[in-house]
Order: sequence, then C-alpha cells, then structure tokens
Amino acid sequence: MLSPDQLIGEFDRALRAIAGVAHAVRPSPADAVAEAELQAEERAHAAALMRVNHVGEVCAQALYQGQALTARDAHVKERLREAQREEEDHLAWSAARIAELGGTPSLLNPLWYAGALALGAAAGALGDRWNLAFLAETERQVEEHLAGHLATLPIEDRRTRAVVEAMRADEARHRASAIELGAATLPPPLREAMRLAAKVMTTVAYRV
Ligand SMILES: [Fe+2]
Ligand SMILES: [Fe+2]
Repeated sequence: MLSPDQLIGEFDRALRAIAGVAHAVRPSPADAVAEAELQAEERAHAAALMRVNHVGEVCAQALYQGQALTARDAHVKERLREAQREEEDHLAWSAARIAELGGTPSLLNPLWYAGALALGAAAGALGDRWNLAFLAETERQVEEHLAGHLATLPIEDRRTRAVVEAMRADEARHRASAIELGAATLPPPLREAMRLAAKVMTTVAYRV
C-alpha cells in the first residue's frame, strides 16, 4: 500500500502531467539549435505534430505511473521510475516547443491521462512480464510515430526536429530496457488494437 506521502506524490505527478507543468532535468535539445524562418502553415503543422507528441508524453506519464505503482519487482519498479523521469523531460520539451511555435496543448489532456492511467494499471495488474510487454510495444509504436513525424516536419525546422530525434532515441532505449527486464511478446491482435487506439488519439490530438 502507498503511504499518505506517496499518495500525495502520485497525485501531484498526475496534476502536473495534465497541466503540462513538467520540469526537465536535461536541457531541451532545441536549445542548441537556432530558430528557422517558417511559413505560417509549416509552423502550424509543426505545432500540431508537437501537440500530438505532447499528448503522447502525457499518456507516457500516466502509463509509467500506473505501471510503476503496480510493478511487483523492486528492480523493475526502479527502472520504470527512471524511464518516467526521462518522459518528464519529453513532456517539458514538447510543451516548450508547442509554445515557441505559437500552438496550444491538447484540451483533452485530462481525458488522455485518465485513459492511459487505466490502461497502465490494467497492464500492471497482469504481472511484470505483461506490464513490460505493453510498455515495450508502446515505446515501439511511439518510436515509429516519431520517425513518421521526422518525415513530414519541415526540413528547416531543426529546432523541432532536434526534440523529436532526442525523444526517439530515448524511446528506443526504454523499449530495449523493457525487453531486457523480461517483457513478454504481445499477441498480434492486441498490438493491432493498440495501434488503432493510437491512431484515434493522434488524429484527434492533431486538431484539438
Ligand atoms: Fe517520451
Ligand atoms: Fe519512452
């Protein structure tokens, strides 16, 4: 069971994720790159893609939170917390980039968060192997997704690209670490269902 302090800590984490108030430990990869001159529609497209990524990171917070809470093995729990810490950097970096591009985060963040937390807790309840399997598959899909963004982001928008590239590298490490910790392999229908859910989320989040 959680102590009252832990409970408050988790609640605080949830509120910060939903509000998009995250503190990055690592500086944003965008900091090292100069801002480009972008057309209005390029800027709007980049902002919308970053809103999608930001929603993904809000969900990552919830997933990792749900799973770290339910993980049984202390080592697994610790590694999930480490990954969550890096996801918090992603949350802060993508929020900052949305603001720079003149966009706004998704209005539906509380909803995305709640859905992902429920999924994370459900996966966690199945035991560590399945918990990790779900995580590894999520990270794999996010990686693919970020690669897709790199293909459509304006070439000159090196600032946004730097953030997306760094996130993609982190997600690849998170996936490898979930597999190393003993992730099972998800059955293909479940993977497809996750892909479908992600499609709905990304389509909606591109707009609101
Ligand atoms: Fe992330
Ligand atoms: Fe990740």
